[in-house]
Amino acid sequence: MMPVLHAVIVSCPGQGHVNPLMNFAELLAMRGFFITFVTTEWTDQRLLEAASKDAAARDREFQERGFKFRFLTIPDGFKPEKGRTSDIGEVFLALQSLGPTLETVLMAADKSVPPVTCIISDSFLSCTAEVAKNIGVPRVLFWTTCTAYAIIQTNANFLLSQGYIPVKEEDLKSKEKLITCLPGKLPPIRPTDLPSFYREQHISELIYGAFLHESRIQKIADYILVNTFDELEGGKEAQMGLSINGCPALAIGPVYLPNFLQGRNSMYSMWEEDKTCLQWLDAQAQGSVLYVSFDSIAVKSEKQLHELALGLEACGYPFLWVLRSDMAQGKSVVLPEGFIDRTKDRALIVNWTKQLEVLSHPSVGGFFTHNGWNSTMEAINMGVPMIGWPYFSDQFVNCRFSKDVWKVGLDLEGVDSDEYKMVTKEIVESTIKSLMKGCVGRKLRENILKLKEAATNAVMEGGTSHANLNTFVEDMIKLAKSKV
Ligand code: UDX
Repeated sequence: MMPVLHAVIVSCPGQGHVNPLMNFAELLAMRGFFITFVTTEWTDQRLLEAASKDAAARDREFQERGFKFRFLTIPDGFKPEKGRTSDIGEVFLALQSLGPTLETVLMAADKSVPPVTCIISDSFLSCTAEVAKNIGVPRVLFWTTCTAYAIIQTNANFLLSQGYIPVKEEDLKSKEKLITCLPGKLPPIRPTDLPSFYREQHISELIYGAFLHESRIQKIADYILVNTFDELEGGKEAQMGLSINGCPALAIGPVYLPNFLQGRNSMYSMWEEDKTCLQWLDAQAQGSVLYVSFDSIAVKSEKQLHELALGLEACGYPFLWVLRSDMAQGKSVVLPEGFIDRTKDRALIVNWTKQLEVLSHPSVGGFFTHNGWNSTMEAINMGVPMIGWPYFSDQFVNCRFSKDVWKVGLDLEGVDSDEYKMVTKEIVESTIKSLMKGCVGRKLRENILKLKEAATNAVMEGGTSHANLNTFVEDMIKLAKSKV
């Protein structure tokens, strides 16, 4: 008899985590899985508020789509009014002790649901290892990052033992201490590609220890999935570099793309989306607009925001700028005097967009991004070349690979070795001009269009990610059958 598959999917509290995990949850629900989606109370509240709906309305929507789906939440231990994006280290430390709460919530919940058959854990939720062991189900590690970063992060303690971590300032500057000892046949990794919180200057911060701890537990997995596609990241060999004790490691992404290709924009925003962007884009010339967004966490000094604004003004292109109100290091954003007035005929500044709809709009010709993995892949899938301005974590390797390995983006000189480097308005202006016109931009566009096609093929029937997802589902069925 066919067992009912019940996947508990646990997501970190963050836009770049909830989006891919929810899309993955939908892919499994379409294949008949019963899904329990777990995130923190704070995250769930934001998702509901941004969508202007209550939990009952959301449940109904999922039922109407024929999904067997329920949402559960766990408290993260912080007061509701506390911001969750300003001190990431503190948040991750708190998440590490949530195992017992998660287990209690899973055990106490509705007895009418089928028994859990696997836990699909965000790769940064070490607390799920103990829960999976106690419940006696496989732990599937889901990386919302690229494979190269996942391999680096899984091996962070090895890199520590080899003296690559903490990354010394002189190594950041010289970039000569190349890392070639990692599995997965990665291109040589530069010190500047390593997660930024492993730099010497961050040793005393909570995030440094928290992520080394995560790295130890990332070595405990029965199955590994990565939100990327084989054609982008060195094929099966690269993914196998992630395998723990020979367990399967498969690229199944981009997980939002099947939904998108079928006309469903199933992005789950934690901030209310501006409704005017698309109309504004409709009025712009094809390929003329620069989309500027550094997403949910990045902050910049007031001086830096001024240089950026003046560079956007000087470049002469229309721009759509996602400028969160909390982006100026806790202060309210103050733009250069007269800037809004001078640019009002060719600029739209908003708090949050429907990013996929923006990137897929024909007026958008370039993306100025922080190179979060989701944004990077979305740009690739929509064929929009990028300028990368990484802020932290994996964004540095994403930016470097976009420029040097996939050749679909530009970077800003010196930012890779100095996260706080002041980028002048002149650099902003000249880099935008290189991206938007001339032979450099044309070549990047050609390259990214090839990858766009490869990504689309990967998720369609017969494609690599589609086949890998089938393999995963079959393996979960086999495992569940072996337990009946
Ligand atoms: C961070 C890491 O950088 C990323 O690599 C990891 O996988 C998750 O955590 P984040 O800073 O949230 O990510 O950025 P990103 O990965 O780019 O994800 C942001 C998501 O928000 C994207 O799916 C993007 O489409 C969406 N978004 C962003 C919007 O819908 N509207 C916006 O205005 C901006």
